[in-house]
Amino acid sequence: MTNQFPFEVDYKPHLPQKTDYGIAFCGTGGIVQYAHIPAYKKAGFKLVGCYDLNADTARKVAADHGLPRAYATLDELLADPAVEIVDIAVPPWEQLKVVRQIAAAGKHMLCQKPMADTFSDAVEIVDLARKAGVKQAINHQMRWDAGIRASKHLVEQGIIGQPTDVQIQVNTATPWHMWPWLAAVPRLEVLFHSIHYIDATRYIFGDPEWVTSRHARYAGQGGVKGETKTITIMDYADGLQALVAVNHYNLWAEPFATFRFIGTEGAIDGTIGLMYNYPTGRPDTMTITSSQYGKGVKITPTLEEMWIPDAFVGTMASLMEAIQTDSAPKDNSTADNLNTLRVVNAAYMSAAENRSVRIAEVH
Ligand SMILES: NC(=O)c1ccc[n+]([C@@H]2O[C@H](COP(=O)([O-])OP(=O)(O)OC[C@H]3O[C@@H](n4cnc5c(N)ncnc54)[C@H](O)[C@@H]3O)[C@@H](O)[C@H]2O)c1
Repeated sequence: MTNQFPFEVDYKPHLPQKTDYGIAFCGTGGIVQYAHIPAYKKAGFKLVGCYDLNADTARKVAADHGLPRAYATLDELLADPAVEIVDIAVPPWEQLKVVRQIAAAGKHMLCQKPMADTFSDAVEIVDLARKAGVKQAINHQMRWDAGIRASKHLVEQGIIGQPTDVQIQVNTATPWHMWPWLAAVPRLEVLFHSIHYIDATRYIFGDPEWVTSRHARYAGQGGVKGETKTITIMDYADGLQALVAVNHYNLWAEPFATFRFIGTEGAIDGTIGLMYNYPTGRPDTMTITSSQYGKGVKITPTLEEMWIPDAFVGTMASLMEAIQTDSAPKDNSTADNLNTLRVVNAAYMSAAENRSVRIAEVH
């Protein structure tokens, strides 16, 4: 029996009372153009300008999207009193440098994921904001993806009982041409992609104790340097096991991008819509079974929001709320994100050393 009855889980991004903070972009590449700007416009946020190392890109983005100013330097952006939040979207090895300037200028910031390509840089990024007394959040927007956020609430409500198994499996032909610079990075799949699933797993289920990861390359990946097929297992103290298995070179089989959260009393079974046709995507789907609904009953809510752009509203709204309430961002603080990076780094240690790694080993 399949049921469509009203889905009362609150999964859409919440806007705080005040949303008219002046936002300026540092870095105006692909993700800003096809995700950040459409999301913020949809939410009615106030976009005041942008800066990019490549001045032509910044000018073009400002003109194409109606941003009032393209700044010639980051200093010029930071000197503008209209800028209250800097939205960073530069490659991870550039982020510490720009965070130093932004923190020194006393502006709040949304950092891009991954926070850094070394753990020590990430720790310094978190420290800089703390010492400067500014709010800093991370753009791990899968936490606001409809299927993930709905699952978080359902798991908290005990719909699946005690969680026993997490399985996130993604098998697609990834459009690598969108990120030509990724071809040169030595650590590719887990640091730039599986990190979303690792972070989403931590968001719903907390921190694992052990990480085991195996990494491989696809025979025809040519000049792409890093790993492109990975399997990561996270073992929790209470017996929960999480599997994140990703293959970016499925050129022949039917693509799939699925999540399964299984517990002692039920299960949530879903698809990650974005990964079927990145970056256009489609809405997530989910099927819920639970002893609370009765045996054989399947709940199949309609999830209306999309990862791109809707989830990108959530990360920025959370930063705005933190500014208003003078507290740490509730669901996306950079301090919390250090543990996502611990899992990521543990995965690389595991693969390199052919062993399981405790996340506490990463510091
Ligand atoms: N949150 C997500 O889901 C998501 C998705 C895609 C990309 N990203 C991240 O966003 C970042 C940008 O990715 P992209 O796809 O837009 O790449 P991109 O290459 O299209 O854009 C990067 C831009 O940053 C600019 N830049 C580089 N260093 C700079 C600096 N020091 N100051 C100002 N501008 C600088 C470049 O000139 C370029 O225009 C990366 O860190 C990537 O990992 C995140």
